[in-house]
Parts: sequence; C-alpha cells; structure tokens
Amino acid sequence: MIKPIDEAMLAEQRRDIAAVRSILESEYAASGRRRLAMIETYGCQQNEADSDRMRGMLAQMGFSLTEKRQEADLILFNTCAVREHAELKVFGNIGALKHQKAKNPNLILGITGCMMQQQHRVDEILMKYPQVDFILGTGTFFRLPGAVLSALSGGGRQAVIEQETSAIPEGLPVQRTSDVRAWVTAMYGCNNFCSYCVVPYTRGREVSREPEPILEEVRGLVSQGYRDITLLGQNVNSYGRGTQRGLDFPQLLQEVDKIPGEYWIRYMTSHPKDATSRLFEAMAASSHIAHQLHLPVQCGSNRVLREMNRHYTVEQYKELVAKARALMPDLTLSSDIIVGFPGETEAEFEETLALIREVEFDSLFTFAFSRRKGTKAYDMKGQLSTEEKKSRLERLMNEQQIYSLHRNKLLEGRVLRVLFEAPGRENSGLLQGRTEGGKLCYAPAPPSLIGSFAEVRIQEAKTFVLYGELA
Ligand code: SAH
Ligand code: SF4
Ligand code: F3S
Repeated sequence: MIKPIDEAMLAEQRRDIAAVRSILESEYAASGRRRLAMIETYGCQQNEADSDRMRGMLAQMGFSLTEKRQEADLILFNTCAVREHAELKVFGNIGALKHQKAKNPNLILGITGCMMQQQHRVDEILMKYPQVDFILGTGTFFRLPGAVLSALSGGGRQAVIEQETSAIPEGLPVQRTSDVRAWVTAMYGCNNFCSYCVVPYTRGREVSREPEPILEEVRGLVSQGYRDITLLGQNVNSYGRGTQRGLDFPQLLQEVDKIPGEYWIRYMTSHPKDATSRLFEAMAASSHIAHQLHLPVQCGSNRVLREMNRHYTVEQYKELVAKARALMPDLTLSSDIIVGFPGETEAEFEETLALIREVEFDSLFTFAFSRRKGTKAYDMKGQLSTEEKKSRLERLMNEQQIYSLHRNKLLEGRVLRVLFEAPGRENSGLLQGRTEGGKLCYAPAPPSLIGSFAEVRIQEAKTFVLYGELA
C-alpha cells in the first residue's frame, strides 16, 4: 500500500526549505532585492494542483512569486505529455531561456511534470539543454527544496525521478493562484491504459487519498472563503480502492456534501465505464455538488471505442447520459472527443458527428489524435495524415458550436446562480463568473461581489459565454 510521505522525508524538505531561506535572507539583507520565482503550468488540473504545492514551498523558501518570465530568477516548467503540441511548446520555451540565462547567471531553471516521466524526454533535456539545472518527476516534485538548494550551492545538474509513485504527497505547504476556485486531489494516477493515452505511464498506478485528509482540505478551503472546489482524479469512479476507510466516490461526495457552508463541489474526470446511477443520485440529492458532468466519450464508433480500450459502447454511453439527465434535468454535460484515431474511417467519424447531434453536449473538448511513444496506438496501422485529422477536427468543432449555442439559448430569460470570480474587461463595469454548470457568465455588478454567489437573469446567450443582469 502506498502511504503518505513519511515524517522523515517531510523533515528533510523542511530542512532544505530552511537552508534555502537562510541563503536568500542573507542575500536580501545585503541587496534589498528578493529573488523572484515563477511556475508555468501546462496540461490538466492535476498539474495545477502540484504547482500549487511547489508554489507553497517556493514561498516558504523565501522567493517572491511573479508571473513574468523575463524578471524571474527561478523558472519551473510543470509539463504535460498528453499531446505532442504541449511538448513542443515546452521545448520552444526552454530554448528561449538560453539568452535569459546568459544575461542572468543566477537564473535557475527546473523542469517538472509529466514529460519528465518519459526517459526519452529526460535524455533529450539533459543532452540538448544545458540551461536546465534540475528535473523532477510527478512522484518527486515535493523534493523541490533539495533541488533548489543544490542549484543555489552549485551542486551540478540533477534529475530526481521515480518510475512508480512511492508516497502520497500529504502535509506540503500550498499556495493557490485563485481565492475563489481550488483543486483538491482525490486520487493520483490511472490504471486504465486507454490505448492512445500516456497518462498511465507519466502518473503511475492509481492511488487514492484517505477520505479524512480530503475532507479536512475541503473544510479548510470553505472556511477560507473558497466557493468552487473541484475534486480531481483521472477516473474518480475508481476512488477508494486500497484505502483504509473504503468509501467509494459517491460516498465520498456525500461526506463532502455534509460540510456546512456556501460552496460548489465539482469533480473530474469520470470514466463512463465506471459511472453509476449511485453517482448521479448522490449528485441529485446533494446541496453542494454542482449539476455538472464531464463524461468523456472519446468517439461515436463502437469499433474505435474497442480499439481505444474504453470498455463501453455508444449505446451504454447514451443510456448513462439519459439516466443522469433524468435525475438532474438542469445538468450541464461536457465531453472529450479525439478525432483521427488510427484506422478511423470517414463513416466512423460521421458516427461521432451523429452522436454529438443526438446527445447535444453543452460543450466539448476536441483533440486530434497525437501519437504518444510507449502507448499501444503509437504503432497501430492506419495512422491518418495531419491534414485529415485537422479537417475532421474542424468539422467537429463547427458542428458542436451549433449545439453549444442552442443549449445556451435555452438559458435566456432564466435566473441562474452565478459565482463571481474576477473583474471583466477593464472599465466594462462587468464581473466575470461561472454558473453551476461551469459556464462563463458576465454581468454588471460591483467588485465587492467577487467571491460571492448572486442570482443573475440571463439576457443574451452566445456560443461560449452568457450575459446577464443581477436579478
Ligand atoms: N482521465 C481523463 C482524461 C485525461 S487526458 C479521462 O479519461 O477522461 C484528457 C483528454 O485528452 C482525454 O480525455 C482525451 O480526449 C485527450 N487525449 C488523451 N490522449 C490523447 C492523444 N494521444 N491524442 C489526442 N488526445 C488525447
Ligand atoms: Fe488516459 Fe484513459 Fe486514464 Fe483517462 S482513463 S487518463 S484517457 S488512460
Ligand atoms: Fe498532461 Fe500529465 Fe495532466 S500528461 S493532461 S499534465 S496528467
């Protein structure tokens, strides 16, 4: 069983944090300038959640945080490997830092995250990018203090990576970027091995946190004023396996829901093969769980779904959606779709179009299949050309816009609860918020309402945004 980070390891981090802090403090006393650090996060909320922890440690080490790459003295790229595009962006950005490092010899550059769980990427970085000082993996990011200390004291280049997760990162400091929305990890890793996906290789096997630390984290967030909390896991439906208390995900939701306060709970992601009526019933009966469901279908052809190793059929998927909508008529439903999986024919792609026409998702995240080294689909026959994939992607997105707009139009004239999270465009007098379904919404409102819920009458619905007025 994988346990939380043990006390000895935590003590080591605290020691290294203190050591860095003392170096930076004496530097500050001499120069009056604090070193600035920034983290650039790619990929999914799992990476965002890890970045929150690394930011927490950096703050304790005595760095001030910045969002400007040009002025930073320490830059971390927390990387994603899910598609080639994400990886290329990181390489481009590391390349661009060569000049900055030449100008500022104190600049420390670290690469963390999913790309660094792939040996060929680690080798590439070590060979071609001498400007990189250290590398940490998804299972070792909490050893950031040691890596920074070593870089500061001229300890040479370091790569600390473990193939398998050895400890659940509990007990680390956290610094979040928002005061309203927060991520709470329910489980790490993935066991599903969808044939296109690199995540099981970069995040290791599934490990669930015990319910108590999760509940404690949510309680803390609610009392600090967080209003929109997302429970994370690559497949939350297998939450609870191997934990001592043995709660499953619907039961965990019920426990979370008991926490008093004004807040929404969301979760992602839910794999259709393991989603149950009990999950939807728990949502429907709760007072805090948003009626929002992200249920990635990936494609509309049963043959392709089998090749993807998804373990459900289009018919079973539609049945699930019907159940969820019957229990929650106000449900906001979104999905992920990959076009151009190896061997996908024009007719099979049209089955995907037929599916989105029938289901009418509120929104879709659409992707062109990207070959990922080490995955089963990498070597599959029938790889499509980039042009073909692009053209299918465009057709899919264009068609979805019709349904997104249609679903949003149904909300015109309705009064919805909106959580305001930020000012809108400058001098617009608008605030930006989210509906319970996670839809972007703007309304004229005083800045004092940021961080609060308000009733908003929707006046105008567009494809990607709603406009309204306080009701
Ligand atoms: N665990 C989540 C998804 C994580 S990855 C789930 O199972 O739903 C997010 C999305 O990226 C996936 O749902 C899939 O649509 C997309 N994706 C993953 N690997 C991909 C690849 N090789 N090419 C294109 N899209 C991919
Ligand atoms: Fe990837 Fe499938 Fe796991 Fe999601 S469930 S992370 S798509 S392997
Ligand atoms: Fe990317 Fe890793 Fe998330 S590969 S999508 S950052 S789990």
